[in-house]
Amino acid sequence: MLVAQISDIHARPDLSSLQTLERAIGWLRTFRPDVLVITGDLVDDGWRQGYRLVAESLRSLDCPVHLLPGNGDDAQLMRSELAAVGTWINATGPMHFRTAVNSLTLLGVDVTVADQSYGDVLPHLPWLMNSLADVTAPSLLFMHQPPFSIGIGVLDQVGCSNGSALLSTLEAMDRLPLAILCGHVHRPAFGRLGIIPAQTCGSLCPPNPLLLEGRADLSVIDAPSFLVHEVSDGRLVSHVVSVPVPDSGA
Ligand SMILES: [Fe+2]
Repeated sequence: MLVAQISDIHARPDLSSLQTLERAIGWLRTFRPDVLVITGDLVDDGWRQGYRLVAESLRSLDCPVHLLPGNGDDAQLMRSELAAVGTWINATGPMHFRTAVNSLTLLGVDVTVADQSYGDVLPHLPWLMNSLADVTAPSLLFMHQPPFSIGIGVLDQVGCSNGSALLSTLEAMDRLPLAILCGHVHRPAFGRLGIIPAQTCGSLCPPNPLLLEGRADLSVIDAPSFLVHEVSDGRLVSHVVSVPVPDSGA
């Protein structure tokens, strides 16, 4: 069972991330994941044409696609322009999704807060508890902002609030999710929330610098990237797939 995860395209007329998306989707068309999840920040500044172009690209895939908004998205535009691609539990309000693919449950919780960069999972814990109550098979939990510290101060200030309440909620369930899979920080990072593996997916827009423990602000040498999660017999292994940007001089 192969779950591809793309995050943080941040499509803008003046950025190359739509071309990076095209390259990633072209690769995925041949790779053929069972499902693709996009964990938010598809388009910047409410660029309607950007949502149309993302939708067109995603429609070229054979697999189901599920999408969460990020803090940079215009939720209303995203809903209307991607209606032929994604489905959400409600026609209005938080854009949560819940689906099952080959007995793996995928839950997407929309933790975005209107007009804020940070997220908050607290208002959505009742929905999450309800949704997980009857899940007896392995599950993956997706959200945009990570509920665990990345160690990069400027990003941790705009993470997902109330991670400890999320952990308590999940620990009260019969079965923990295999992992919490996020975006938002524009770097692949791997940590934990309690004993639950928690990760962030790299971005398709240019990655952020690795500003850890006061080290110098080095120029970024990372390529854009996405993740492929392999789930088999309740075991999860996540693979980073990088998408080097072609040399513009070539
Ligand atoms: Fe974000």
